[in-house]
Amino acid sequence: MNVAQLQEEILRLKKEKDICILAHSYQAREICEIADFTGDSYKLSVDAAKVSNQTILMCGVRFMAETCKLLSPEKTVLLAQPLAGCAMADQMDRQLISQVKEKYPDYTVVAYVNTTADLKTICDVCVTSSSAVQIVRKIPNNNILFIPDCNLGSYVAQQCPEKNIKLLNGGCPIHAAVTPDEVRKAKALYPGAELLVHPECVPEVCAMADYIGSTSGIMNYAMKSEKKEFIIGTEISIAEHLQYECPDKEFHFLSMKLICPNMKATTLADVYNCLTGKGGEEILLSEETVTAARRCIDEMIRLGE
Ligand code: 13P
Ligand code: SF4
Repeated sequence: MNVAQLQEEILRLKKEKDICILAHSYQAREICEIADFTGDSYKLSVDAAKVSNQTILMCGVRFMAETCKLLSPEKTVLLAQPLAGCAMADQMDRQLISQVKEKYPDYTVVAYVNTTADLKTICDVCVTSSSAVQIVRKIPNNNILFIPDCNLGSYVAQQCPEKNIKLLNGGCPIHAAVTPDEVRKAKALYPGAELLVHPECVPEVCAMADYIGSTSGIMNYAMKSEKKEFIIGTEISIAEHLQYECPDKEFHFLSMKLICPNMKATTLADVYNCLTGKGGEEILLSEETVTAARRCIDEMIRLGE
């Protein structure tokens, strides 16, 4: 079977089984093409809550599938590739944050959505990279404990100077690995290009950018911009997708470190195997976890509106 035949078979199976396929924008092009919804983690979590399908198949990483399950506990939620985790989400657990909370009892705990469902059970509100600033601004408490990403947290702190934001030493090892030196090299190679970066990059890199935003934010900015050339400071798949969307523009990778092995783990064959019941993993969360973790997701949606 070639790629087109496999895609056709996947489309037939998902229709027959009434399955909604979600693909994060970091997924491979051939996966995005067969998805019902693509986008950043915030958009996908909202899309997943609205669909009428009984089964949702997530092509992305585990915390995204868990978020879908939290929003739609009555549905069957499948993760296409069970090994697809998130290096940042795995950095902090409930035990660690419970101890930190004891030290900061008056703080509102804001969790980036890139956290496990188990950790979300003890947090107050979730944010995504596209909603973090807006949500933190709306929180009545000025004392904020922002976990786990200190780079996204620094960006939020810069945008919300009225808040007292406490950060921990976590973050995305992929985005955080990009150095200002690499930025200088890329700018020298492509002097006419605008630099668009994800806020998971370190503050020194963000400070050199023309635009800072989520994966969808970066894509929308580049598509609408009158500029013709861009350096993309997030997972390299975004530059590839943009090149297809805007053939008259030029997109360059900021760094070859920006390859997330977890996001690359899902293949079209995984999607097919999941649909035929031979692969994937059903996300199962206890009722207590769903009830407790759901509070901070609901709060994210309420404050994000
Ligand atoms: P978005 O919130 O922009 O989708 O990012 C998710 C992610 O994992 C970025 O590394
Ligand atoms: Fe997690 Fe970073 Fe990969 Fe995003 S790019 S899924 S934050 S490890």
